[in-house]
Amino acid sequence: MKFFIDTANLEQIKEAQDLGVLDGVTTNPSLMAKEGISGDENVINHYKAICAIVDGDVSAEVISTTYEEMIKEGEALATLDSKIVVKVPMIKDGVKAIKYFSKKGIKTNCTLVFTAGQALLAAKAGATYVSPFIGRLDDISTDGLALIEDIRLIYDNYQYPTQILAASVRHSAHILGCAKIGADVMTGPLSAILSLLKHPLTDSGLATFLADHAKAAGK
Ligand code: E4P
Repeated sequence: MKFFIDTANLEQIKEAQDLGVLDGVTTNPSLMAKEGISGDENVINHYKAICAIVDGDVSAEVISTTYEEMIKEGEALATLDSKIVVKVPMIKDGVKAIKYFSKKGIKTNCTLVFTAGQALLAAKAGATYVSPFIGRLDDISTDGLALIEDIRLIYDNYQYPTQILAASVRHSAHILGCAKIGADVMTGPLSAILSLLKHPLTDSGLATFLADHAKAAGK
């Protein structure tokens, strides 16, 4: 399973990249705003800075909501770097735009997906990635991982090449659930990725090993 980091924070992207397990980045307008990135030129420069850090795909979301404007914005984003994936919302004009980008060979990520039906539409339109938001479903007492299971089944039934990018991942249980189900990618914050490292028996075991080593060495 590929690991994407879900942030526009350059330091966190570098930290995940340095760990050696990062396969890509997803951003959204809220994450860009959180880093204080606004204005066309700053936004473009920020995407270029992210692309310079990572080796894999970088999702850049369109702000437009009409077909014509999404095409214009997405085509401009796609020219920034070959790593750019145009992130398009799951709305009627978005589906049409995904079909257009797919025919043009421009990579897409269909975002704000909350049902298997939406994921089916995204695959039929030729999306490169589909982003079901599992954390936000959990927030409304709906099983987010069950949606990943349903999409996996449907995509496997018809061999759709669209990759399931489990989004809105909040913690290690989400990551492991996605890996068990067979999501192609998960995107989450650095804290969720680092949480995979942690177990108290690892910490206490290491402390014991180091103490025994020091004792044997007469320190
Ligand atoms: C997806 O690409 C989104 O950026 C993201 O995963 C949303 O997550 P959130 O629900 O934690 O905001």
